[in-house]
Amino acid sequence: MEIRIFKDIEKLNVEAAKYFIETIQKEKNPVLGLATGSTPIGMYKELIKSYQQGEISFVNTTTYNLDEYVGLDATHEQSYRYFMTENLFKHVNINPDNTHVPNGLGDSEKSCREYNQLLDDTQIDIQILGIGSNGHIAFNEPGTPFSAVTHVVNLTETSISDNSRFFESIDEVPKQAITMGLSNIMKAKKIILIALGENKAEAIRKLVQEDPNENTPCTILKNHPNVVILLDHAASSKLI
Ligand code: PGA
Repeated sequence: MEIRIFKDIEKLNVEAAKYFIETIQKEKNPVLGLATGSTPIGMYKELIKSYQQGEISFVNTTTYNLDEYVGLDATHEQSYRYFMTENLFKHVNINPDNTHVPNGLGDSEKSCREYNQLLDDTQIDIQILGIGSNGHIAFNEPGTPFSAVTHVVNLTETSISDNSRFFESIDEVPKQAITMGLSNIMKAKKIILIALGENKAEAIRKLVQEDPNENTPCTILKNHPNVVILLDHAASSKLI
């Protein structure tokens, strides 16, 4: 695991985007693993800038998102499909048919099986990750087996409370999500994890100091050969 700490978040976002830009330029049919939440927004802005400047094209790119809330459709402003459209897809020349987000509506178990099949049939070249204050990656909450594939998850109180800032009230936050499993995530060739802010510092401390263990899902990344962790000062504040 390579760890890089930045004073300037703009610079961090530029550096994160560089890894993706290189992949998009190098691969004939790039496959990107994408994430939602506040963390990757700055990086997506850099990718849009790079597209507008003619450095990259998304015409041959395929994307797979980590997760989606159960019960929210694509037009719901807090659905992750909506987030991706607003923060990246509608600004670049990607074919919407090549963008994949788990289906939060209908039969969730069936959605999981179908999504997992898609992931089994491909390999993600580069995956962006945020991290939960409880150490989750995607919605793999503490205690999730490292062997997990795409599954329905009951969100923890911590995740519901962390995400309530995006909803009018905490009662509106969905209680379940569909998430890629940890073993799906580990299949990516390269993984970039970004953590910003003080409330991620404890999760980052555990990631760095603990051996891989299922109580701290992010620690599985120590078993991956190609991970880069990008931190702002606050998120790195518990590392000595
Ligand atoms: P955030 O979420 O980017 O909104 O902080 C990260 C996560 O929960 O994985």
